[in-house]
Amino acid sequence: MSDIKIKITDRQGVLHEVDAPTDMNMNLMEVVRSYELAPEGTIGICGGMAMCASCQCYVNSGHDLPEKSDDEEAMLSEAFNVEDNSRLGCQIHITPELEGLEVELAPEEI
Ligand code: FES
Repeated sequence: MSDIKIKITDRQGVLHEVDAPTDMNMNLMEVVRSYELAPEGTIGICGGMAMCASCQCYVNSGHDLPEKSDDEEAMLSEAFNVEDNSRLGCQIHITPELEGLEVELAPEEI
């Protein structure tokens, strides 16, 4: 079992430092859900298919993340509250390279 540390600021502005496993094929949205950092039903609505933007987050650290897929690009072009550093959490896979990642959950889409 190998974990990395990720800092996640929730929608209330509270910072959480969590351990995320790199060997369980998890993505960032699933990590947020597993720590219950956003209420059930407000994140991961499409199940991680890049089709809802409920998992949008802002990446505040300088990590070199994999490029966005066309699906992620398309979804973010339609979502609300999108910033230059917006990503879909479900498209970010937890890998050792993400040690120390800092993200902030985007406001809930209504
Ligand atoms: S969970 Fe729907 S886009 Fe990420």
